[in-house]
Amino acid sequence: MSSKPRDGFSSKFGVIAAAAGSAVGLGNIWKFPYEAGQNGGGAFLLLYFVFVILIGLPVMMSEFVIGRKTNANAVGAFKSLAPKTPWFFTGVMGVAAAFMILSFYGVVSGWTLEYIYLAVINAFKGQNPEQLSKGFNEFISNPIRPVFWQVGFMTLTALVVIGGIKNGIEKITKLLMPILFLLIVVIGIRSVSLGANISESGEVIGHSYDGLKFLFKPDFSKIDIDVVLDALGQAFFSLSLGMGTIITYGSYIKKDNNLKKTAIEVAFLDTLIAVLAGVAIFPAVFYFNVPPTEGPGLVFSVLPSIFQKMAGGYIWTLAFFVLFAVAALTSSISLLEVAVAYFTEELKINRLKATIITAVSITALGVACSLSNSVLKDVSFFGRNIFDTMDHVSSNFLLPIGGMLIAIFTGWVMKQSEFYNELSNNGTIKIKLFKSIYFIIRFLAPVAIAIVFLYSVGLLG
Ligand code: PHE
Repeated sequence: MSSKPRDGFSSKFGVIAAAAGSAVGLGNIWKFPYEAGQNGGGAFLLLYFVFVILIGLPVMMSEFVIGRKTNANAVGAFKSLAPKTPWFFTGVMGVAAAFMILSFYGVVSGWTLEYIYLAVINAFKGQNPEQLSKGFNEFISNPIRPVFWQVGFMTLTALVVIGGIKNGIEKITKLLMPILFLLIVVIGIRSVSLGANISESGEVIGHSYDGLKFLFKPDFSKIDIDVVLDALGQAFFSLSLGMGTIITYGSYIKKDNNLKKTAIEVAFLDTLIAVLAGVAIFPAVFYFNVPPTEGPGLVFSVLPSIFQKMAGGYIWTLAFFVLFAVAALTSSISLLEVAVAYFTEELKINRLKATIITAVSITALGVACSLSNSVLKDVSFFGRNIFDTMDHVSSNFLLPIGGMLIAIFTGWVMKQSEFYNELSNNGTIKIKLFKSIYFIIRFLAPVAIAIVFLYSVGLLG
């Protein structure tokens, strides 16, 4: 053990900002809208809510408890609570998930940098969504440009992680998260108020209200097992759960913090921002009559079109893409931190070296993801290219399985009193609904996740 005090968050707001900074990212602004678009809108949203509240929240509390109780990284935490058992493997799986997620995450984050550049040179001016979509596809299928930005983004991520917790991660998130929030609200208002889109010949092209209907009116006929699995995966992905990010961040939280309250606040903010992103995007999607199922290019082709309809569009576009990139950055640092904390604490490699080794290997994997939109287009696994495989396997499998193991660990391996004492700061705060939370962790969450899996691999139903 070194005598230097372990780095950590300095304030309560810093904890929320950092944990919400990890949670809020591409998952909310890029992935949620396009997944909702592909999975029937309202029906997906409803399932997503159910998973966040019933499974996400209790798993998040478990992760916070495991992290703060042990003051350790994702692997070390399990080693310290259940020494000489294979439970540490849950943490190893988390580190593997961090590698996989960050590989494609770095690519999409790189796209946001290209879009900042395009915003600066005012390249979106006069372009309609169709042209924007074409431009997006041309850009991602270029073998060099996206890789250039991806490498740039990963370098930024590594620099913040080298800076450490208080000075790096906390400072950036505290300042920028609130601004992002305000901006999305403003864009949402503009998008909803677009109204009817009438062509010169008097034809109705689309109406923004239909976007709200799409997002909030569930069409239950759209629900099948793939939609359920996507919603579960998205809940884990968006809340940064199931791979030890929240364990790692929990380990930096002070002993007097109310973990249950923090978990609720983070989950609330994260969900709110996903919904607001939906409100910003879908009304415009319907106004411009863009197919909501367009996929990963959705926000990149629709948002710049909204900004064109706003006074001061140039500034809005630029501000949005800058904050979008920052939201991605505060999540990517949390992904890298999982791996770095493991390398420094378990493998005793110094922080600088650990950051460089992990960032370089993740970036290399990411280059393959990026190239799967161009030269590696034909490499596929079960019909998915490299990029989609990384996303699908990590979000829909590793994270929910990780979450299931974390719930089982908290509910069955840790003693109830251990869990209770850490959550209630040794009984100094009252934990309302403790029994229900504990019941969900022990039974409901693991069983629900198992059922979704068995169905999705065809072993049930
Ligand atoms: N929650 C982040 C987002 O929504 C992504 C993430 C997943 C971060 C898992 C950390 C761990 O963008």
